[in-house]
Amino acid sequence: MNKPKILVARAVFPEVIAKLAQHFDVESNQTDELWTKAQLTAKLQGKQGVFTTGGERIDAELLAACPDLKICANMAVGYNNFDLDAMTAAGVLGTNAPDVLTETTADFGFALLMATARRMAEAEHFLRAGLWTKWSYDMFAGSDIHGATLGILGMGRIGQGIARRGAYGFGMEVIYHNRSRLDAATEAECRANYVSKEELLKTADHLVLVLPYSAASHHAIGAPELALMKPTATLVNIARGGIVDDAALAHALRNKTIAAAGLDVFEGEPKVHPDLLTVPNVVLTPHIASATLPTRLAMANLAADNLIGFLLNNKPLTPLNAKVPI
Ligand code: DGY
Repeated sequence: MNKPKILVARAVFPEVIAKLAQHFDVESNQTDELWTKAQLTAKLQGKQGVFTTGGERIDAELLAACPDLKICANMAVGYNNFDLDAMTAAGVLGTNAPDVLTETTADFGFALLMATARRMAEAEHFLRAGLWTKWSYDMFAGSDIHGATLGILGMGRIGQGIARRGAYGFGMEVIYHNRSRLDAATEAECRANYVSKEELLKTADHLVLVLPYSAASHHAIGAPELALMKPTATLVNIARGGIVDDAALAHALRNKTIAAAGLDVFEGEPKVHPDLLTVPNVVLTPHIASATLPTRLAMANLAADNLIGFLLNNKPLTPLNAKVPI
């Protein structure tokens, strides 16, 4: 019997390609070319499944041109590259890669918070530039993490991981805002108190964004929200570009509306707003919050297992639009 045909849209671990090849006729992209939408559409002809990595836009236009496609398996927990309504209408299943990256991503969120509040990147650039000639009492003085108020916007699994790190590890007071309030047991476990978005913005010493991107969360943090924050506050975005209005943030950083920001995600990435590149009080990283090799391997395996589970047994592990029949 012929194996189902699938496409792996970006380079991934060779062992994952080998696993997929046991079950499928695999076309892969191990040279990691960045395909245009037209190239992706052409590659998808005759394919029943595609392994995506979060950057490939799957929308009604592409789906209409790829009638054999049955499943798009994202190697990412975020799936804003999927037009899920269009996929459901076309009878195409989407899957993501939750849970396996939660703790790694929460670690990174906390690391970025620490680096930002304690001005580590700025201080390192200063040292490397040979500018360190003497001690001074206020040199790169930042903000304390321990005992401060940690605000979290978006309290899913990763937000909860950050809350636990703050509460248990650093004695922080944790407040959060979310579309829906957590149950009492989870709030108690995270030692987190629910507040309005306005109170969160006004009260947090450090605000970490961990909410999913959607039309509703577009520019959830813009000039009006930044104006509500403390001038001593730090803002960390490990969620998605577009949740923060990057131009407004650069302006706020330059004018010291807030003290500092740590950004792992950007509007229009991999491009970065030019104003963010010239303000000193921001730490910038290239969307690497889930980037440890064990976690990336687990994410890739989960995406592969979704393809195998669905196309071979009609049993995807982490479906986004359940009830799409094979
Ligand atoms: C995710 O999984 O959504 C992370 O942003 C990594 O891409």
